[in-house]
Amino acid sequence: MKVAVIGLGYVGLPLATALAYKGFDVIGVDVVPKKVEMINKGIPPIEEPKLPEMLKEVVEKGKLKATTNYDEIRDAYAIIIAVPTPVKEGKPDLSYLESALREIGKRLKKGQVVIIESTIPPGTTQNFAKKILEEESGLKHGEFYLVHAPERLAPGKAMVELFTVPKLVGGLTKEDVEAAKKVYEKLTSGGVIETSAINAEMSKLAENTFRDLNIAFANALALLAEELGANVWEVIRLANTHPRVNIHLPGPGVGGPCLTKDPYMLANPMKGLAKELIITGRKLNEYMPKHFSELIEKLAKPGSKVALLGLAYKGGVDDIRESPTLKIYEYLKDKYELSVHDPYVKEAPIPFTKDLKEAVKGASLIAVVTDHPDYKEIDWEEVAKLVKEKVVLDGRNVLDKERVERAGFEYKALGVGE
Ligand SMILES: NC(=O)c1ccc[n+]([C@@H]2O[C@H](COP(=O)([O-])OP(=O)(O)OC[C@H]3O[C@@H](n4cnc5c(N)ncnc54)[C@H](O)[C@@H]3O)[C@@H](O)[C@H]2O)c1
Repeated sequence: MKVAVIGLGYVGLPLATALAYKGFDVIGVDVVPKKVEMINKGIPPIEEPKLPEMLKEVVEKGKLKATTNYDEIRDAYAIIIAVPTPVKEGKPDLSYLESALREIGKRLKKGQVVIIESTIPPGTTQNFAKKILEEESGLKHGEFYLVHAPERLAPGKAMVELFTVPKLVGGLTKEDVEAAKKVYEKLTSGGVIETSAINAEMSKLAENTFRDLNIAFANALALLAEELGANVWEVIRLANTHPRVNIHLPGPGVGGPCLTKDPYMLANPMKGLAKELIITGRKLNEYMPKHFSELIEKLAKPGSKVALLGLAYKGGVDDIRESPTLKIYEYLKDKYELSVHDPYVKEAPIPFTKDLKEAVKGASLIAVVTDHPDYKEIDWEEVAKLVKEKVVLDGRNVLDKERVERAGFEYKALGVGE
């Protein structure tokens, strides 16, 4: 069975590779020629565990071919869309989706299934996508099929989760769902969950908004713990021993491509207190990089060197989209000599180093922003020889306080009051 994947980014490329790995003949379409060129050489333009080996294998076997030419989707059974759906100033920007839908619509044939994996505002499948596809193709929905099958993978675990996580398939009709099921039944062992497009749209946004609000609650507790002289990490650990409580963890900010925007997509059509609840949670999470910068300002003299450990938005990945470190850097860049360390990141709009020694040399404060596993292994005795002042600020509760203190450092943490 031939399938096309439109948009070969953090979602589309792992998905196209996973489909090819499961035996589908996959055509991947992207508008960036450089990406297409790399993919056809078997080199992933993104960092994702297991992807390099799997991509190389499927490209060599001829199961995955990338192109910039939409004409190659013509004889595909299914066309899966994974283009960006950003939010700008709180409002969803569907321009990439529209452009992909118009290109697909111009070539759409009877019996083809269009699957939107991109995250979309409630109602988009029915009121936006269907209309554009009908307009461009001259076909009526029913002659082609249309579903929303939201992508739920987490960067860093994509090549496991694509094969295991249950897939929501939301159609406008039963026939839509049946047509799309033929693809996902072969891809994931997690099973296909059938629903309507509107329910799939809302549930995807609900998943990420739940997580964002949960983190906002943890951040609210962290701010209070700092005021009252409590330890938020201990407070949450204790609360989570209750069998029906699962509070997420606080931190210097929430980054990434999903939690930073999906709550706005859900809140946008809401009204009154419901809207306020979601926007307030988002605003609190957006405030945390500033709060962390203020903690740094309490611990380091203006003009001194501060080493920020971690540039990726979460531990173990190279993805810097919406990373709190970028915001902290902006707040502090004119006040301190900043160094930024990250062992994973390849490219960034700010200077950074992969060399920890270089980052901490002469520093008056070391602040951990990202929970990279590598930071648990830091040799603090060695670091002590390089710094100017021995002060550490742990924003993620990743360091072993005793080990840090044994090396002579003063240990401070976000969410821990005096
Ligand atoms: N990254 C994640 O962890 C994640 C997880 C779940 C869902 N999502 C959702 O999946 C969608 C894609 O996200 P992503 O992180 O893969 O984005 P991305 O920016 O990494 O990749 C999108 C790709 O689409 C290409 N593109 C843009 N316009 C195009 C067009 N008209 N035709 C063909 N290709 C086009 C871009 O060049 C890029 O390679 C978004 O809606 C996002 O919210 C992302």
